[in-house]
Amino acid sequence: MSTIDIEALQSELSHKSPRIILKKALALFDNIAISFSGAEDVVLIDMALAVKKDIAVFCLDTGRLHPETYRYIEKVRKHYPIEIELLTPDRDVLDAFVKSKGLFSFYEDGHHECCGIRKVEPLSRKVAQLDAWITGQRKDQSADTRQHIPEVQLDTTFSTAEHTLVKFNPLLNWSSAQVWDYIEAYQVPYNELHSRGFISIGCEPCTRAVLPNEHERAGRWWWEAETKKECGLHAGNLKG
Ligand code: ADX
Ligand code: SF4
Repeated sequence: MSTIDIEALQSELSHKSPRIILKKALALFDNIAISFSGAEDVVLIDMALAVKKDIAVFCLDTGRLHPETYRYIEKVRKHYPIEIELLTPDRDVLDAFVKSKGLFSFYEDGHHECCGIRKVEPLSRKVAQLDAWITGQRKDQSADTRQHIPEVQLDTTFSTAEHTLVKFNPLLNWSSAQVWDYIEAYQVPYNELHSRGFISIGCEPCTRAVLPNEHERAGRWWWEAETKKECGLHAGNLKG
């Protein structure tokens, strides 16, 4: 699909339920995929399969995920009749980066360079082949960076002059509790780390468990400011 009135679509989908947003996204776009890593994304897979049997799903395998996360990816692959495409970083770029800066440079000079190589570049290669993608972002994941996200948006980070990419965020207005109610009600598989105090889960060296009264993203890149806690997949969230 080449031309779409994003503003009209956004007013149609504003504050609609995740199922309605997903249904619309899948009706409008054939060349669309779910970006999967966490609890939210499996809820989306579960819901999407009721609408479309052959939903495309991909996961950015940074090489630094927890062993539990790799087991979780396998659990999801076996639970649903879907393929999960694992996207890996460019080998030459990664080799050069690790050779010059080692394995933990993000603790010294921030996570952007490593995330750029291990997540953003593989994602940009993937979304260049798509017309739209679906994420599990929610507003209440961050008071600093996720409050102004719409249900559907032109992805200004990955669109180019030749290629327009649309991004859907169907769970935008759901709370964490709603996600977990769904997981329990429909017996959806989840990452075993959630049973050990982890809420928002990224790469192993950059994620830690949080205390009961801490915010869910407090365990992500905990050595950095709240306003910088976007890895580049959703860089547009940082603008303005
Ligand atoms: S991040 O930008 O801080 O890492 P977060 O973990 O909150 O993102 O996840 C938000 C959404 O981004 C997920 O619901 C998923 O759609 C996408 N996402 C994040 N990490 C990955 C990954 N490793 N592979 C695929 N999608 C991802
Ligand atoms: Fe690298 Fe950490 Fe980003 Fe993973 S989250 S890509 S290990 S900086």
